[in-house]
Amino acid sequence: MTVQLEAKPARGSVPIHLTSLEQWSGHARALPAEARRWLAATGFAGKPDSHALVPGADGALREVWAGIRDVTDPWLLAALPKALPAGRYHLGSGGLMADTAVAAMSWELGAYTFDLYKPRQREAAQLSLPLDEHSRRGLVLAAATAATRDLVNTPAEHMGPAELAEAVRMVGRQHKAKVREIVGDKLLAQGFPAVHAVGRAAARAPRIVELTWGKARDPLVTLVGKGVCFDSGGLDLKPADGMRLMKKDMGGAANALGLAQMIMALALPVRLQLLIPAVENAVAGNAFRPGDIFKTRAGLHIEIGNTDAEGRVILCDALAYGAEGQPDLMIDLATLTGAARTALGPQLPALFCRDLAMAREIVDLGLELRDPLWHMPLWRDYHGLIESDIADIVNTGKGAMAGAITAALFLEDFVPGKLPWLHIDLFAWSDSARPGRPVGGEAQTLRTLLAWLERRYPRS
Ligand code: BES
Ligand code: ZN
Ligand code: ZN
Repeated sequence: MTVQLEAKPARGSVPIHLTSLEQWSGHARALPAEARRWLAATGFAGKPDSHALVPGADGALREVWAGIRDVTDPWLLAALPKALPAGRYHLGSGGLMADTAVAAMSWELGAYTFDLYKPRQREAAQLSLPLDEHSRRGLVLAAATAATRDLVNTPAEHMGPAELAEAVRMVGRQHKAKVREIVGDKLLAQGFPAVHAVGRAAARAPRIVELTWGKARDPLVTLVGKGVCFDSGGLDLKPADGMRLMKKDMGGAANALGLAQMIMALALPVRLQLLIPAVENAVAGNAFRPGDIFKTRAGLHIEIGNTDAEGRVILCDALAYGAEGQPDLMIDLATLTGAARTALGPQLPALFCRDLAMAREIVDLGLELRDPLWHMPLWRDYHGLIESDIADIVNTGKGAMAGAITAALFLEDFVPGKLPWLHIDLFAWSDSARPGRPVGGEAQTLRTLLAWLERRYPRS
């Protein structure tokens, strides 16, 4: 941890004062003349993500001034831990005052580096924060975010279906949750034929992982995450460019696990079920083929139009199983379509939901929390695009249009009409670096979903 929660900062800790472009002249006026001259000479103006080191008369570092957008920015301090000299810091009171939850999360993620295979270039600076509920919450959000990123960043070689299941078990152990797995051919006997069909060609056995947690009297929330540990496309092999990042095709699972971790660490008054169908979409003699038809858990026959549209195939069994528990709410997260990226780009996951008011509330909350997602329609008239002549439905749309919508409509066929359901088609990857968000695996919409769940299930 680069954030320390303690009653008071250690001796020698350096204060960081916060300011902004708008507030800087006011804050500067209150400073002693020599500090004001130093800051003017170094060109500091309070610009977001900039900072200035201010020496004392003895030449030692006396204080830091840091520019921020505004105090509610979730990435408030993210530029600092890797930029400041290693050492101990605390928040000073010379400028704007920040919420400790935001301070804790942004600092911790500002120090985030995926360092499993390459050592960090330098140690991050450390921040001392008061031991309170807010700071703790910030650290919970940061830890779940970092864990999500680590899972996505880990190459498929070291993050197969078994390793993904082990990651679920590890989180489960921390929170005394139950975790069970159905592996390999047992998927057939236990009613997950679609998961088996997609995963059967891989050298590493497909599986479904189920985590359950919480008290029997609380409402059941079911989370489902697409866990394709590598998506080669199967027999409909992806071209090299399209395959390059496909270690991240378990990003839905990683995000669902990250959200589960937040829910359990903050003890939301819900009962949780997390379902991860984990497979590798590989090529071999026993691979599922274009034109194959499988009877799914729900009884619907699906025709395979393209083996690269594998996510919806594994999810349909998981959603059907989830619905059998009659949850109060079901949320699935999946790196489901390239079409969602074409429509909204990497920063905006697509939200599909039958209830328009619910969707709008979530979109608004995402904007407010700067953890955005955007609403797209479950446009019923397009269902014709996934209808098959010889099966109930087919896993590819006729033609290339509305690919994110037809994928969502496919999933919708497996979710009973009355069950409140959110489908989130996300990228799970930052493709350009921003403070606190290096290029690589990314947690998306988790803070928004957490806040919305806290609103929907208030503590009594
Ligand atoms: N995992 C991909 C979707 C994807 C691609 C997400 C790139 C993020 C970035 C998915 O399994 C897939 O390949 N979908 C196909 C579906 C098509 C064959 C109908 C797609 O989107 O091209
Ligand atoms: Zn695919
Ligand atoms: Zn995929």
